Order: sequence, then structure tokens, then C-alpha cells
Amino acid sequence: MKKIAILASGSGSNAENIIRYFQHHPSIQTDSVWSNKKEAFVLERAERLNIESHHFTRSDLNETEHLLLEFRNRKIDLIVLAGFLLLLPQKFVREFSVVNIHPALLPSYGGKGMFGEHVHNAVIANREKESGITIHLVDEIYDHGKILFQAKCLIDRLDTPEMLAGKIHELEMEHFPQAIEKFLLGSD
Ligand code: GAR
Repeated sequence: MKKIAILASGSGSNAENIIRYFQHHPSIQTDSVWSNKKEAFVLERAERLNIESHHFTRSDLNETEHLLLEFRNRKIDLIVLAGFLLLLPQKFVREFSVVNIHPALLPSYGGKGMFGEHVHNAVIANREKESGITIHLVDEIYDHGKILFQAKCLIDRLDTPEMLAGKIHELEMEHFPQAIEKFLLGSD
């Protein structure tokens, strides 16, 4: 059985979707959910779905050894960033495979500060004709690692950032769990 740990900072709709997808999966299971925000709704979602959830602080992350030991002891195969907004220390990305989902077509609209609504605001302000999602491996630079999967959506002339966020959300729900599955099981 391959094990994933999910790191998230916010609402956790992606985390919930991933947990549900792998709930009865024959070879992948969600081990635990981790958030740097004590009040993040993702922790409540995990609890409701009977998945262990943990809070950690920014210094826990940066001091690293304790968290690394947790993931090592749990034999985590993949760390999934699902709306996780801190940069992972080098040691994490050197020891573990880590995937992230980004709500735009990288390399455009990536980098520090580019998350959630900030991305959609920028895309709409630039009158782009399309946007999408990028699922990529994480390295030591924000939004930089190898791209595993992208899906696009069209932007209508009158779309607002909120409307674009809805389209992106649909793509995320449709594709993120399968991209994780494909990465872990190596199937096409
Ligand atoms: C998602 O749209 C994800 O792509 C984005 O945060 C949202 C989290 O939503 N991630 C980033 O912007 C990373 N740079 P959720 O908490 O409902 O899953």
C-alpha cells in the first residue's frame, strides 16, 4: 500500500476530494493531513472523514527534523500539497517526492504570492483567453519543478475572477486525484 500525506493551509476542497478518491483504493491510502493553520477548515474535513489531522507551526517546518521523522516513520511515499502556501525546506524535497497543484498554467502566473484568488485576478486583469491547472513535482523553487499534468479552460470575455475560480475548481476536482494515482502507480 502506498501512503500519501496531504499538506494544506486552507479550505481543503482538494484534500477532501483526494481523501474520498482513495478511501477504498486497493493500493493507495491517505495516511494523514497536516496544516500550518490551526483554524484551517481542511483539519475539520479530515476529522469528519476519519483521517488523522495535525497542526504544525512555521518553525516546526523550518526546524524540520521532527516533521521529517514523522513522515519517515509513517513510511510516506508521497507528500501532496493541496493549497499549501509555505515553501518546503530543502530537506523535505530531497528526501520525499512532493507534488503540488497550481491554479494556472505554469510557468505563467507562478512564484511567491501567486496563490488562490491572486492568480485569478492577475489572469483576468491581463485579459488571457485561457487558464488552467498545473500539477507538478516540487523542488526548492516556488512553482518550478517538473510538470506532470496540465489541463486548460477557456476564459470568456465577461468572466470575473470568481467565475474563473469556479472553472479551475472543476478541473482540480476532476484531475488531481488521478494525477497522484498515475504518479504513484506509474500507469498511463
Ligand atoms: C487551489 O485552487 C489550489 O490550486 C491553490 O489553492 C487552492 C486551495 O483550495 N493553490 C495555490 O494557489 C498554490 N500556489 P482548497 O483549499 O479548497 O483545496
